Amino acid sequence: MTLRDMPKVELHLHLEGGAPPAFIRDLADEKNLDISNIFTPDGGYAYRDFWHFLEVYETACTTLTGPEEFKRLTKAVLAESAANGVVYSETFLSPDFCGGRDGAAWQEYLHAIREGADEAEAEHGIILRGVITAIRHFGADAARKTAACAQETAGDWIVGFGIAGDEKSGHLSDFTYAFDMAREAGLRLTAHAGEWSGPDEVRAAIDHLHVERIGHGVRAIEDPALVAHLAAAGIVLEVCPGSNVFLGAMPSWEAHPIARLREAGVSVTVSTDDPPFFRTDMVQEYEMLAQTFGWQEEDFADLNRAAADAAFCDEKTRARLREKLEKPNV
Ligand code: ADE
Ligand code: ZN
Repeated sequence: MTLRDMPKVELHLHLEGGAPPAFIRDLADEKNLDISNIFTPDGGYAYRDFWHFLEVYETACTTLTGPEEFKRLTKAVLAESAANGVVYSETFLSPDFCGGRDGAAWQEYLHAIREGADEAEAEHGIILRGVITAIRHFGADAARKTAACAQETAGDWIVGFGIAGDEKSGHLSDFTYAFDMAREAGLRLTAHAGEWSGPDEVRAAIDHLHVERIGHGVRAIEDPALVAHLAAAGIVLEVCPGSNVFLGAMPSWEAHPIARLREAGVSVTVSTDDPPFFRTDMVQEYEMLAQTFGWQEEDFADLNRAAADAAFCDEKTRARLREKLEKPNV
């Protein structure tokens, strides 16, 4: 089986971060918004570093002004994921960019996103489930409002709650209340940590937010005791190697710790994060892992089984996605 055909589970994809630059440019043109400074001459996204990336990301989001745009975006992103062999995608959705954390507006945006997802599933067989995501540098009050949106829409489709954004902003303990709200609503928890900050940040996510999964978490490698704890406690890392290398969180593919973490018994999974921003896709991630670490079909099958186990969906959905992994084309 080729790496493209191999069925894949992706647990870490930001919906807006999946927007192709041409999609955003067309929307900007339709609305007469001049955001030409966020594009490179060859039509990619232009930014200097991670913090500038966050600004460019938010500028791109200013073109997404209504539910209909999010429906179109969902369909475009899922079509691309499906073309890369993704059969199940857990996607970060941010009420911040969908009506400004207003509960009623969020319900409308979510309805449109689900319509897009239903159409994409009928067309390509790909299953989407949502993880509502607070943006760390918007602060703890905003995160509580985001958690209130999450409470209102938690269920078998909105299955998780997380936090992304600038890891250097505030302390993760500022977000305990928001995460408690989400947990009480029955949502499963993940947090971006250990991408830009060190192992202490990963510990903070575990100790203060009680997450089951960590977004990135790769700098845990600097602390062997933490690596042992991740392995023993079964805390799953949503690793996005291409994102880390492109943004400079890791110096190269060769230096990336994903293989060392896996060898130490940590449950690692592979995702793209914001694929057009990092000029990557799932097939390219797999190709680079094969090339750099010699991983083969059985290694990737293992990773996908681990990702299926770690997915936040209900058991009925997990059974469906496991079937898609074992018997492609069902
Ligand atoms: N939002 C989108 N991509 C992100 C990343 N890699 N880290 C933190 N926040 C993000
Ligand atoms: Zn991310």
